Amino acid sequence: ESKERAKLLEAYELADKLYQYILHNTEQGKAAKQYLMGRGITGKLMETFGIGYAPSRWDTLVNLLDKKQFPLPLMEQGGLISAKQDGTGYVDKFRDRVMFPIRDWKGQTIAFGGRLMGDGQPKYLNSPESMLFHKSRTLYNLHASRPQIRKMQEIVLFEGYMDVIRSWDAGVTNGVATMGTALTPEHAEAIRRLAERVTVAYDGDNAGQSAAYKSIPLLENAGCQVKIAVIPGGMDPDEYIANHGSERFVREVIETAVPSIKYKLLYFRKNYRMQEDGERLRYIQQALRLIAGLTSPIEREHYVKDLTSEFRYSYDSAMQTLNEIRLQTEKNS
Ligand code: CTP
Ligand code: MN
Ligand code: MN
Ligand code: MN
Ligand code: MN
Repeated sequence: ESKERAKLLEAYELADKLYQYILHNTEQGKAAKQYLMGRGITGKLMETFGIGYAPSRWDTLVNLLDKKQFPLPLMEQGGLISAKQDGTGYVDKFRDRVMFPIRDWKGQTIAFGGRLMGDGQPKYLNSPESMLFHKSRTLYNLHASRPQIRKMQEIVLFEGYMDVIRSWDAGVTNGVATMGTALTPEHAEAIRRLAERVTVAYDGDNAGQSAAYKSIPLLENAGCQVKIAVIPGGMDPDEYIANHGSERFVREVIETAVPSIKYKLLYFRKNYRMQEDGERLRYIQQALRLIAGLTSPIEREHYVKDLTSEFRYSYDSAMQTLNEIRLQTEKNS
């Protein structure tokens, strides 16, 4: 088992180098390089993140692995190649894709995410679960961002590869990605072991915002202090940077991330028609229930003040309602 692991790690390292070599030094890599440049990825960033290109041939990696006498069934099990339907051999798993190596915390390549350059499905092909790669525990870029995360005691959580890379270029060097929106309790634990504070910077579309909302209890249960960065216009971090530049991204998205309670208050506000008295009152009741759940009295006071000054209610009556809610919940628990 440990021998197989070592062999598979060695193969992943070889594939990583091969794909990078092809991107930078061959004719076939040129279009991929153009594609990356067009998305704002400089040559230096390509190197920093080990980005490569898997060519469209069916046998580039298979032939190399075979020549170097790697056991092909193990390579298939490990997700680098696929068995042919008719059982006559193997083909490369990744073809004509821009390759993002996924590394463990030690910096060893344990999987790939491969992106199609045009439209088509799936947009990203990821390595399957293997003896090396467990998606539910892996945070993309943790190896490179760890020193900065430790230093700042803060981590920024993105969805995707491109978000991490372009944010890194914008100076956000404490970023990692969950590679999608499936944040798990294991991720949350791993995050908490490194840093107390988390900023969730998921995509601004509905899927991303709903995932950000769901991430709050997960991260808070692990003991993290959570902020949410809200990206206007449904954009993701990469698109925001492309449209508005790095400085505005840092200043207007990362640095203005709001504490989880504030995000929740904003998030479910969409469900109420605020111009109607009855709806507004229901919103305020709901908001007070959320605020009542805060453990710190100072925070409770702060958000009650915010709420009452915005809607011009008296602080005293809001506090009274809040205390009634707190008594209720104490009785129920
Ligand atoms: N993802 C995946 N498989 C897919 C789609 C997405 O594994 N078919 C993962 C990738 O890690 C991707 C992340 O989920 O980076 C976020 O998905 P999405 O927002 O759809 O992609 P982007 O990262 O924005 O990709 P791009 O900017 O290249 O279009
Ligand atoms: Mn395992
Ligand atoms: Mn997304
Ligand atoms: Mn995205
Ligand atoms: Mn994107």
